[in-house]
Amino acid sequence: MKKHIVGNVSWIGYLDWELKHFHGEDYTIEHGSSQNAYLVQEEKTVLIDTVWIPHRFDFIENLEAEIDLSSIDYIVAHHGECDHSGALAALMERIPNVPIYCTANAVKSLEGQYGKRNWNFHIVKSGDTLDVGNGKQLIFIEMPMMHWPDSLASFLTGDNVLFSMDAFGQHFAVEELFNDRANQPLLHYEALKYYVNILNPYAQNVKRKLAELDKLQLPIAYIAPSHGVVWRDNPLQIVADYALWSDAYQEDMVCVCYATMWNGTKMLAHAIADEIARVSPQTNVVVHNIETDDKNDVMVDVFRSKALALGSPTVVNDILSGASGWLTFLKSLKFKNKRAAAFGCYGWSGEGTQILQERLRDAGFTVSDNALRVNWNPQESDYAEIPAFVADLLEIDTTTPLQEQEKPTMQKYVCDVCGFIYDPELGDPDGGIEPGTTFEDIPEDWVCPVCGVGKDMFSLYEE
Ligand code: FEO
Repeated sequence: MKKHIVGNVSWIGYLDWELKHFHGEDYTIEHGSSQNAYLVQEEKTVLIDTVWIPHRFDFIENLEAEIDLSSIDYIVAHHGECDHSGALAALMERIPNVPIYCTANAVKSLEGQYGKRNWNFHIVKSGDTLDVGNGKQLIFIEMPMMHWPDSLASFLTGDNVLFSMDAFGQHFAVEELFNDRANQPLLHYEALKYYVNILNPYAQNVKRKLAELDKLQLPIAYIAPSHGVVWRDNPLQIVADYALWSDAYQEDMVCVCYATMWNGTKMLAHAIADEIARVSPQTNVVVHNIETDDKNDVMVDVFRSKALALGSPTVVNDILSGASGWLTFLKSLKFKNKRAAAFGCYGWSGEGTQILQERLRDAGFTVSDNALRVNWNPQESDYAEIPAFVADLLEIDTTTPLQEQEKPTMQKYVCDVCGFIYDPELGDPDGGIEPGTTFEDIPEDWVCPVCGVGKDMFSLYEE
């Protein structure tokens, strides 16, 4: 069944509720996904992309229920990857002469996967247009490395729909199709997870392409990516998110990640997290066992963090194989602007922390010289080294008395909704908050005295 988007534009993809993994086993799907294809039915009928190979026959059956296949004037293949081109071979058996508009690289990709079948390719470049009738055109925009060299987007004038291919997508199934109908926290998490795990390696391209899109000044009313929701409510919100994420993004957050054999390295991980929380209470700290936690979710947390403490014991003159594979994936994501430090237990030779340091440097992190290397299980003297380890990781000046370091917690906070400013010097006596109470010490059930929203709607106030 096709789903109407705007004017004569419809979705005709495959909503994949059952999908659990993508890119082989490399990407976990937790809330379904979709392979989005679109139909433009103006004076000319245009099919934009198809679906993954396993769903090709369902797709063609659905398509045939909506239109006569022989009425398709043009096919646009934005990208050759088989999750979008998977139905082409079967479809072209039925309509062999229909022109396929795509990039030169997409021809290589499609012929590489499906063989040379003498399809009627029309190669396009940025700025080329395809007249679809009724005064509307598709304007093509090459999107190399978002996320393959062959990637292409197109913009439908008149209805102002940007068919953005993989960019701005999510692996997320939403029956109602549109972003405003989705569970918002889940949508934003899935968009971030998709960006971090699929697009961040090409962050520099993303930045360049966003600047190019901005220059084109397209009046974008809809963003229709190849996976997940169609953005119709404030569609540029996801463009703004990409601008932030592609610019060496970080939050005041630290990830403590470890692999462990007999829990010694795990004990260190928890002690390090405790110390970070003690010396930097405003920082969010998360702990992950990288061998048991979902690696795509862990990478989201590492991406959000300003620093990573990574632990593995020494095993057979190396680190645990789980940590080694995880570091390979970490390097491939090309995170920028992050510090790191290594820790781990050992029984005999003890080169694990040095290997971790080298691998972290190789992955683009700025690595602290201070590694926490513990013989057997951590003892009191080992725990005593953790404050210096954390101070070096966070580049905290340990010569400054703790009271002074904690001064930022006396900072003011502003209500994001109404603009009320909470001043800890004044407190909120009418709300039961004594003068001198830091924002962090206010009970969680306290509400803004002006508009009534909770503490989570306040942000640090920059004077
Ligand atoms: Fe969704 Fe690059 O394919």
